[in-house]
Amino acid sequence: MTAFIEAASPHVMNTYGRVPIALSHGRGCRVWDVNGKEYLDALGGIAVNTLGHGHPKLVPALQDQVAKLIHSSNYYHVPNQEVLAKKLVELSGMTNVFFCSTGLEANEAALKLARKYGHDKGIEKPQIVVYDKAFHGRSIATLSATGNPKVQAGFGPLVEGFIRVPLNDIDALKQATEGNGDVVAVFFETIQGEGGVNPMRVEYLKQVRELCDQRGWLLMIDEVQCGVGRTGKWFAHQWAGIVPDVMPLAKGLGSGVPIGAVVAGPKAAHIFQPGNHGTTFGGNPLAMRAGVETLRIMEEDGLLDNAAQVGAHLRAALERELGGQPGLKEIRGQGLMLGVELTQPCGVLVGRAAEAGLLISVTADSVIRLVPPLILTRAEADEIVAKLVPLVKAFWKEAA
Ligand SMILES: Cc1ncc(COP(=O)(O)O)c(C=O)c1O
Repeated sequence: MTAFIEAASPHVMNTYGRVPIALSHGRGCRVWDVNGKEYLDALGGIAVNTLGHGHPKLVPALQDQVAKLIHSSNYYHVPNQEVLAKKLVELSGMTNVFFCSTGLEANEAALKLARKYGHDKGIEKPQIVVYDKAFHGRSIATLSATGNPKVQAGFGPLVEGFIRVPLNDIDALKQATEGNGDVVAVFFETIQGEGGVNPMRVEYLKQVRELCDQRGWLLMIDEVQCGVGRTGKWFAHQWAGIVPDVMPLAKGLGSGVPIGAVVAGPKAAHIFQPGNHGTTFGGNPLAMRAGVETLRIMEEDGLLDNAAQVGAHLRAALERELGGQPGLKEIRGQGLMLGVELTQPCGVLVGRAAEAGLLISVTADSVIRLVPPLILTRAEADEIVAKLVPLVKAFWKEAA
């Protein structure tokens, strides 16, 4: 195993602390490494593989598209851009979509929309409210919006124009923006992913929507990780019955084919004009087909309900097995986006879980994150619990 890694990686930049395995292929919620070892995938490529691996409806559609046209450029119309945009508009209650290829690109576009929204109103130095523990990406602007000093370290000077506030505290938001006519937008994840699976409360979401309406700010909700069905609704903020003005998407939208999208409502849909924004790969025929087919298959196979039900089952089982233990801080999240926060840093569990045949991640040092494919069955959820719980208990015993 080590020999494989040493032989395979000397020319790849050292940007990830990798688990020493290399995956070869997958089927459903299972993957196999190059040595033939099997894993149950509770990470889903970090909330990307919505339909799992090798989905029997997705594979032939992508094969068909690869054979027809992979890329053509935005100099020409791409018919599936309109099909996917129409579907996203229908599902979100918003109006227009810009396509790109990743989450940070979608967020970058959102930040540009917010700034131009301000400039169009005569605000020369627009400011955007962002949150503690937020993660919005690794470009200079999105890492500046991110609320994690580790992500920012070494990359200053950061982009200016951000005001940072704590989560779920409407008074803190009002105080931080009081009398400030340069504020143009509020930007957050409905459930923070990298920050430790931290949900915004329903009441808070409604309060922020109201405040944005009163003050003429854009409400921009980063649904890159929590969106596209993961929580049991198409978009996580829909649990609060609100509609944002700008919504970046990526990750699960293409089931593994790189894709990003910025969905905009009436206040933001016409800010960009020709020449204001663009990307070579965004909206290409392969990514669009992946997006169209992903949403179609999700609907056909009832994956929103599955995410809600299997997620609730998984959460209940974890509560039953780990609840009340002194080493457990909290189990959080919704649907198939769950975080199990321990009282101590527990990154070591990632490797141990892989040895036990389970793929997970640990984020924010002490939060075990479970974001499996939305096709997960109850039996597979039980298997996650059966593999994970003994590892957590052994970890606690060791630490005691
Ligand atoms: C909420 C959120 N926004 C943005 C990003 C950045 O996405 P990408 O890695 O595709 O640039 C991520 C990635 O983890 C994310 O979780």
